[in-house]
Amino acid sequence: MKFLITAGPTREPIDPVRYISNRSSGKMGYAIAEAALDAGHEVVLISGPVALVAPPRAQIVRVTTADEMYNAVHANLADIDIAVLCAAVADFKPTEYVPRKIKKNEGVPTIDLTPTRDILASLGALKEKKFLLAGFAAETDDLEKNARTKLEKKQCDVVIGNDVSAPGLGFESDENELTIFLPDHSSRVLQRASKRDLAKSLVKIFCGMKQNC
Ligand code: C5P
Repeated sequence: MKFLITAGPTREPIDPVRYISNRSSGKMGYAIAEAALDAGHEVVLISGPVALVAPPRAQIVRVTTADEMYNAVHANLADIDIAVLCAAVADFKPTEYVPRKIKKNEGVPTIDLTPTRDILASLGALKEKKFLLAGFAAETDDLEKNARTKLEKKQCDVVIGNDVSAPGLGFESDENELTIFLPDHSSRVLQRASKRDLAKSLVKIFCGMKQNC
């Protein structure tokens, strides 16, 4: 099977030295890429800026902004069987980029923000898509409600929820606990484990779902 995986944060530049971003380390997405490769699959890994070494067997596409990630995903959809959108894409970008460093002595700047395009929703909205579409929901509260809303609104085949408020889990951590939400209203918990082990389970689950669809 051929996987397309997005991972890591995006950076939305304010001026040449400043940007808006988030705490995503990319560890979960990179672990899924490794697990898919280890299971003999092909992987296109579309990665935001992270401090991780990319698996050498992956076809890596490095991007910085949400717009670049959107374009890279849409340019790499050919022959994809399973798309796993794990990246923490910035929800907002500065409306205008200031091409010189904003000076402190000019006063506190007002930064006007514009929503970025939702990559996952754009894939869910594709007519006749042939790939399984998996989204992630990192939530601090109401995990089930928020994950199910994403599943429906973004037209995914599966949403993987994780509670990022729990200490030692989620962002930047090596461990996670996941809940898999399916459109038939069923769910399944993958108990706390290393992102590596969880990634192996996810790859098996995604492949099983793809074979049955
Ligand atoms: O709405 P929220 O950002 O929490 O949704 C999370 C899911 O949507 C993740 O799978 C993430 O990769 C994807 N997403 C995306 N493009 C965006 C925002 C989120 O692909 N602009």
